[in-house]
Amino acid sequence: MARMSTSTEASMPRFTIQTVPPARRINTLAEDVLEGFARSPKELPPKYFYDDRGSALFDRICDTPEYYPMRTEASLLEGYGADIVAAMRPEHIVELGSGTSRKTDVLLGACEQAGIAPVYWPYDVCEGVLQETGDRLLARFPWLQVNALVGDYTAGLDHLPRPAGRCLYVFLGGTLGNFEPEPAAILLSDLTHHMDAGDGLLLGTDRVKARATLEAAYNDAGGVSAEFDRNVLQVINHELNADFEPSAFRHEAVFNAAVGRMEMYLYADRAQTVTVGALQRSYRFAEGEPIFTEISRKFTADGLRDELAGAGLALEGEWVAPEDYFSLSLSRSTRA
Ligand code: SAH
Ligand code: TRP
Repeated sequence: MARMSTSTEASMPRFTIQTVPPARRINTLAEDVLEGFARSPKELPPKYFYDDRGSALFDRICDTPEYYPMRTEASLLEGYGADIVAAMRPEHIVELGSGTSRKTDVLLGACEQAGIAPVYWPYDVCEGVLQETGDRLLARFPWLQVNALVGDYTAGLDHLPRPAGRCLYVFLGGTLGNFEPEPAAILLSDLTHHMDAGDGLLLGTDRVKARATLEAAYNDAGGVSAEFDRNVLQVINHELNADFEPSAFRHEAVFNAAVGRMEMYLYADRAQTVTVGALQRSYRFAEGEPIFTEISRKFTADGLRDELAGAGLALEGEWVAPEDYFSLSLSRSTRA
């Protein structure tokens, strides 16, 4: 980012925040609801879970005993963060869908240990979570510069700043799996086109495993996943002046083994009509009718390699948790 010539090091803010404008047109929430509710089953895109309340609920999911992806990925970073940092020696870390950046702490800690001080660029749709996380990180790492980026990474990356110096792009939490193969391929290839020679992508992906383990992770006994899933209805209430009664919808996540993905549904527990004021429309829900809210694809080693290759990325290293639970992969652009 441009520095004011009058600034001194001491007066440079260690936290900045800027908006990344969309590089291509993307649907508004109103358009997505209109299109999604015209389908059968009705469906909603997943990015709308994450207002401030949704981000806080996701963070609570991460602390449930059933949600193994959080702790498994964290222990991979604890075990191999030093190797990843040694392989990359990043001058910048740009993280897609950074959320509360809890696991990124481990990576930043490994940088500190290695005596390198990259600039951190957390990139998320939720501005509130970026502000809070910035405060936490500055207190934890006195050397750290945080340049937060607010925007939607599905809208293209042409306006994403391209800092001078080697970048490590980071995409954790198995979030790539929240995209169908085609949009995932678009996102990865947008990223590959944005990368310079020498840049790397650290990607955390969840693996196919026993149905019971997967279904427990997305239907925690404490009901946090359910509350998170229903939050999308509250977002529609607030943003589009709708009158969903979230408690009238029951959350259920099932593993679709044929396609290797978790599927999240909200089922209307009685017949009801919901009005979406901003669309001047009403929607009737039959008793037991589902809204399809999210997928979370689970990968195999070969499947992941193929998806990366399809986007112009060559796998350079892969670290896999015990029992093939979760993987961290480091890849580089083959275009550069
Ligand atoms: N990386 C964190 C958080 C994962 S949850 C972890 O591994 O725990 C997914 C995060 O991606 C949320 O913080 C959400 O706000 C963000 N997100 C979801 N869709 C997005 C989009 N289209 N553009 C930018 N950020 C998005
Ligand atoms: N990115 C998370 C994942 O795929 C999203 C998620 C976790 C989620 N738990 C959920 C979505 C429960 C809906 C309901 O693991």
